[in-house]
Amino acid sequence: MRILAISGSLRARSSNTELLRAAALVSPTVFAVELYAELGALPHFNPDLDHESAVPPDSVARLRAQVGAADAVLISSPEYAHGVPGSLKNVLDWLVSAPEMYHKPVGLLTASGASAHGPAALEEILRTMSTQVVPAASRVVALNGRRLDAAQILEDTALTDVLREVLEALRAAVTSPAALESRSP
Ligand SMILES: Cc1cc2nc3c(=O)[nH]c(=O)nc-3n(C[C@H](O)[C@H](O)[C@H](O)COP(=O)(O)O)c2cc1C
Repeated sequence: MRILAISGSLRARSSNTELLRAAALVSPTVFAVELYAELGALPHFNPDLDHESAVPPDSVARLRAQVGAADAVLISSPEYAHGVPGSLKNVLDWLVSAPEMYHKPVGLLTASGASAHGPAALEEILRTMSTQVVPAASRVVALNGRRLDAAQILEDTALTDVLREVLEALRAAVTSPAALESRSP
């Protein structure tokens, strides 16, 4: 199971990024979780570079290839001003017209229990993009400013259990007949 993990935060000590790092360590022999590393390096989305005859920037081509190679995508994001961080929305805008993202199972995490609007906004965007948002893989994992790194998250069995459930839910979405049917051309 290959999972592309995308954090919506560029902060060096981001709780959402640490959550995804912890997810990568939960069952490394079963789930190969790759953390997307170019959130801050992608150019601003420009439709002039996104039509059929356009050659996408290298970083965009790499993003699309990483999504295409993944069985599922796992996003963990903060909420900014009741919405989706601009840098994450930029990633998604580059993927709107990319067939690699269609019907892709997606899990949605947030590391803050206070996020009352961002996750719903993100879910609406992902549904509009024809991805398959997986409810059981969409969870609030409330670290609430505890400043835990990935290793410390894994020391907390309740948090580890949630991450394991999320990964298993993504695997079920990938392997279930309904998921396979919706992903066929
Ligand atoms: C510019 C900005 C706007 C924010 N707006 C909200 C908000 O509207 N609602 C909320 O619950 N938290 C808000 N927050 C708090 C973050 O969502 C929260 O601290 C999050 O856990 C940070 O994630 P990170 O550690 O991955 O960077 C905001 C933070 C920043 C920097």
